[in-house]
Amino acid sequence: MFLETKGTSDWWDGACVYQIYPRSFYDSDSDGVGDLRGIIKKLDYLAGKPESLGINAIWISPFYPSPLADFGYDVSDYRGIDPLFGSMVDFDRLVQEAHLRGVRVIIDFVPNHSSNQHTWFKESLSGRESPKRNWYVWKDPKPDGSPPNNWMSVFGGSAWEFEESSQQYYLHTFLKQQPDLNWDNQDLRKEMKEIMKFWLEKGVDGLRIDAVSWLSKDLQFRDDPVNPRYRENIDDSYHKLLHTCSSQGSKLFDYLNEMIDVCRGYENKFMITEAYPDVQGEISHYLKYYQRLNHNICIPFNFECISFPWDAGTYKNFVDLFQEALLPGQPAIYNMGNHDKSRLASRLGRDSAKTAAMLLLSLPGIPFIYYGDEIGMQDVYIPKNKAKDPFTTPEGVGRDPSRTPMQWNEYMNAGFSTTEPWLPLSTDYKQCNVESESRYNESFLNLYKDLIAFRKQSTVLRVGAYQSLELGKNIYGFVRENLTDKVTVVLNFSNETEIIDSKALKGRVVLSTYRDIGSNFNLNGHLKLRPHEGVFIAPS
Ligand code: NOJ
Ligand code: MG
Repeated sequence: MFLETKGTSDWWDGACVYQIYPRSFYDSDSDGVGDLRGIIKKLDYLAGKPESLGINAIWISPFYPSPLADFGYDVSDYRGIDPLFGSMVDFDRLVQEAHLRGVRVIIDFVPNHSSNQHTWFKESLSGRESPKRNWYVWKDPKPDGSPPNNWMSVFGGSAWEFEESSQQYYLHTFLKQQPDLNWDNQDLRKEMKEIMKFWLEKGVDGLRIDAVSWLSKDLQFRDDPVNPRYRENIDDSYHKLLHTCSSQGSKLFDYLNEMIDVCRGYENKFMITEAYPDVQGEISHYLKYYQRLNHNICIPFNFECISFPWDAGTYKNFVDLFQEALLPGQPAIYNMGNHDKSRLASRLGRDSAKTAAMLLLSLPGIPFIYYGDEIGMQDVYIPKNKAKDPFTTPEGVGRDPSRTPMQWNEYMNAGFSTTEPWLPLSTDYKQCNVESESRYNESFLNLYKDLIAFRKQSTVLRVGAYQSLELGKNIYGFVRENLTDKVTVVLNFSNETEIIDSKALKGRVVLSTYRDIGSNFNLNGHLKLRPHEGVFIAPS
């Protein structure tokens, strides 16, 4: 095994994590859907060989048995593998093979809701006296028959579904096929913790905990207040209300701390929470997780960078503020892309997406790379008759565009499958694919490999201190430093050449997003950056 022995720091400190959406990574059995054996086949691409990407861990989105109403985030058996993805033997092999390559395995844990096809829910449905009734959230209608309160589903409409036979409503924060589990019920909590143990004992190194905000609700089930800042026809209708009662309840951190205690029963286990703030930009939302969780083995995703405009000042101010607020031993996870959001290269444009890659891989904390971003994949237009995602925005676009098959080569189905894939492929796959990009010097893939390799050998990039620099309106620069080493990162957010004069810029450019070092051999307070260029500067 190549895994480092337990040192002074945790394995996730500065580690680079790669998110795999299993349906779309690699299809090993020609059914058009990616699977666990497909991931095993592609592990060498990710790590363990000199030509690998070089990441330290993978996070695999759900692969549990599921009717797939929300593509696996509706689990019908928390201890199984959906046959579409393979078997438990495949999973065990995947963990073993990943570990052999020094890759840690993080799985998705979906505690807030199960599938309506889970046996627990079926039992719960059987009547008010069912022992599983209180494992879900059931409430009587209001006297006029309407839902118990105004809570909304994230996917639109009321979060309550009326059930005829028992004349009660059940709560579903997401689809009606995803009834909310009742975390206030001790038996349910006990069972969920047993499930965590089941996977941790299989050797899983970490859990990404889905949708944690809703684990605790207002104990009196009061209405959510109206959001005074809601913009009709601009904001998603879910934001008509502030979700101060339906989510972030008083028991949330108790329940998360119980999960942390389960992980602490083992060595080196890691947790990441998924919780978007109700109001964008509220750093207190994220800080609560650092302050109220008992141990630094659980870190919240920070999603602000996913929705920022591409503006140097916005990034600088936010990261400055956030880094300042964190205490030693509290790493940030600045997330720039995932399976729920538009792809980086589509949001920012391909050129800026390279600058963003340099930023992501040089900021303090734990970078997460969404599969395909390392080759510059873009959102794919999905015609209505091919759409799969049940959640669609008012513009009729769901999350399918950023979930399309990984582009491995220029041949049939981009080398993803020998059959028609479950979602259409991007039309750019003949140029934008792993094989072609390995051969082409200025490619996204080679840049990501350089950045990851640099980060791996650079303690300061992983865990050094952070200090930003004032370098002009379009430039975001910062120094990463410890007692013995220093890297200065300078990023041009504009599409024009920028000349920067600053005493802080001394040394030599050791890496550029252009993959050459331009004219900056020996800096003496003067740096010329090409459009969108980002550089690493080391002392000469
Ligand atoms: C967040 C997941 O990332 C998303 O894909 C899913 O639809 C919801 N949680 C519900 O589980
Ligand atoms: Mg398959």
